[in-house]
Amino acid sequence: MKKSNSRNRADADRAYTYLAQYYDLLMDIDYHKWVTYLERIWQGFGIKAVKILELACGTGNITIPLAQKGYQVTAVDCSKAMIDKAKKKAEDAELQIEFIEHDMRTLSVEDQFDVVLCCCDSLNYLTEIWDLSAFFKQAYVHTKPGGLLLFDLNSEMKLREIYGNQFYAELGDDFSYFWDNNFDEQTEICRMELTFFIHLDNNLYQRVSEIHFEKLWRPQTIFNYLQANNWQVMGYYGFLTWEEPGSDEERWQFAARKEV
Ligand SMILES: C[S@@+](CC[C@H](N)C(=O)[O-])C[C@H]1O[C@@H](n2cnc3c(N)ncnc32)[C@H](O)[C@@H]1O
Repeated sequence: MKKSNSRNRADADRAYTYLAQYYDLLMDIDYHKWVTYLERIWQGFGIKAVKILELACGTGNITIPLAQKGYQVTAVDCSKAMIDKAKKKAEDAELQIEFIEHDMRTLSVEDQFDVVLCCCDSLNYLTEIWDLSAFFKQAYVHTKPGGLLLFDLNSEMKLREIYGNQFYAELGDDFSYFWDNNFDEQTEICRMELTFFIHLDNNLYQRVSEIHFEKLWRPQTIFNYLQANNWQVMGYYGFLTWEEPGSDEERWQFAARKEV
């Protein structure tokens, strides 16, 4: 298999350099509801989770509620800016969480977990097929026999129609941002350029930009690569539901199990 290329790491680093500061302000998501949903999935498969590995934890919006519920959480992200935010939130809440700044494709910790999570379209950031394979392989190594891998992906409809070829802007007092997207039909990668205008003390605005790439991964490709990496596909749902996703679904949730 071809070695993981360096593009994702570099792009993901750059991608969250500025967005990390505003990420929590911009995320209009009920993370507690999300965590409860994930818990129901693993409980539904009979797993009594104690140790959880969260890959691409970002600013810790899933990590913190999990630790508050008493799970032993290890959280990984390759963006220093994002993981620093998560660490600060854990410190403020006096929670014991192990944070690791690392690329999830090449992670290697001497431990196995009941559940491995990767949430909020983080897997779309892996833009090459060998990245996806490396991810499934490493997640497998870190999962206990009988344990579960739960992850979601932005759907085809969301990447093509809600993100793709759209322009969004939000003007605030402290910062404003412009979000300019292009969906490439050949590579099926959505390129998103975010430009921020950050309010400085002297009443000037600093202009900065960063670029994100999200790849459209179709469910059948995911099933194939899960199986090729020894995972057993257990579930494929519309986000926060137990139903198979329809064509208008924005987020697809997957569940896979490592054999006992
Ligand atoms: C949309 S954010 C999701 C963050 C968090 N999971 C949440 O639910 O809010 C995507 C995250 O994936 C991380 N990421 C992307 N590629 C990665 C990689 N190869 N290894 C580790 N983290 C990665 C980014 O740094 C970013 O924090």
